[in-house]
Amino acid sequence: RKQTRKQTQNKDMKKQIQTPQNTSIGSRKHFSDVGLVSGISLIVGTMIGSGIFISPKAVLLTTGAVGPCLCVWAACGVLATLGALCYAELGTMITKSGGEYSYLMEAFGPVVAYLYSWTTVIILKPSSFAIISLSFAEYASTPFYPGCTPPMVVTKCLATAFIIVLVNCLSVKLASYVQNFFTAAKLLIILVIVVAGIVLLAQGNTENLSDPFEGARTSFGSIGLAFYNGLWAYDGWNQLNFITEELKNPYRNLPLAIIIGIPLVSVCYVLVNIAYFSALTTTELLQSPAVAVTFGERVLYPLSWVVPLFVVFSTFGAANGSCFTAGRLTYVAGREGHMVKILSYISLRNYTPSPALIFNGMLTLIYIMPADINTLINYFSFAQWAFYGLTALSLIVMRFTRKELNRPVKCPLPIAVLVVLVSFYLVLAPIVDKPEMEYLYCTIFILSGLLFYYPFVHCRFSWTRQVMSEYPHGWYPSGVQMVPQWGPN
Ligand code: ARG
Repeated sequence: RKQTRKQTQNKDMKKQIQTPQNTSIGSRKHFSDVGLVSGISLIVGTMIGSGIFISPKAVLLTTGAVGPCLCVWAACGVLATLGALCYAELGTMITKSGGEYSYLMEAFGPVVAYLYSWTTVIILKPSSFAIISLSFAEYASTPFYPGCTPPMVVTKCLATAFIIVLVNCLSVKLASYVQNFFTAAKLLIILVIVVAGIVLLAQGNTENLSDPFEGARTSFGSIGLAFYNGLWAYDGWNQLNFITEELKNPYRNLPLAIIIGIPLVSVCYVLVNIAYFSALTTTELLQSPAVAVTFGERVLYPLSWVVPLFVVFSTFGAANGSCFTAGRLTYVAGREGHMVKILSYISLRNYTPSPALIFNGMLTLIYIMPADINTLINYFSFAQWAFYGLTALSLIVMRFTRKELNRPVKCPLPIAVLVVLVSFYLVLAPIVDKPEMEYLYCTIFILSGLLFYYPFVHCRFSWTRQVMSEYPHGWYPSGVQMVPQWGPN
């Protein structure tokens, strides 16, 4: 009997593997009926991560005063909302998964789409993982070094440990359970900080906010840099586009979730910053290695340990979500033959895109060695906003080239134009103002993708075909198979 059971099991397994349309492997079912509330929580849960605990210092440093700093935080929220509105049109017009990749492909053809997937794999994913791990390390170590900045070796080692642990422990099943816990943790800590700030303000601690524009130093490029840091905290506003196919009543829920979710996060972020300023002067904030920890020590005294602990949870959640979306893109790009075959494989045992995760982890380790958080944020935002801008441009282009497509959600054209212009400014301003090596490296890395495009994707020599992915749902006998990865985030 045992044997027959095994046989049927085997048969079932084979059936599952050989049905090409079977895309329900992984945790897709978790999202197969995403309603409005889950949509909002997906946006909020992805956006809030490490940024709101790390960026306030850099935004203040680049703007010089409380007033412009709060304005930048609010403006980043507006920009994220406008960007997401463009994405709402794109996502309902082209319902393929893969987000930007599919839109760039439709509007500009394979070279741009390929460059996007290349940039994501080589730059965006590892650098965001690196930023999150370094933020984790700052928050995990600061409580042990009261009153001073933790030594660099300690933070780098902690970040390395974080990366290694995450890459080894990730599994879709586990992740979909822990993710809810992490999301709850970050919402709770934001709430605690906001409430503490309101109490402080009500008690009359408003002196740091009394002359908000004193010392403001706003130049063409420094505003751009402030935006880079603020926008890192808002990154993830495009998350719903990765799951439009699974959204219930998308034409109503997609725009609604965007209009509710992103402003909600913006309000939280501005309030958190006001809370920081209600307890710390600008100098204190700039000197603190981990703002929220200093805030906690000041305000929540017997319970101040709560802050670093929950921020650590939040960074775990952010890293977890960010790693899993990498799996989806490699799948979609793999479908077009734009990806090295092995990076599209998913382990059948626990549905984890292990090769992509390991590769991402290794690149991340390289990134954290020389760089600090701020350099990495600039590097990340530079590349990311170049492609957000291109994607908004693709909307405008397709209004003319693809008139026949059905557009259930129509974003006003001026919004798209504004997003393109702002992205253009964001990409150029910091370079024009202060040319740094990181932008040069970033551009070189992006363009070097073209070196591989010609032999590996365009010509498809017989030897390159062995490395590159080719079949949409090809199944390989080694126990791993290319299937879409629907991660928890
Ligand atoms: N905004 C997040 C944070 O503050 C980072 C999001 C990274 N990007 C992503 N698509 N998951 O940590």
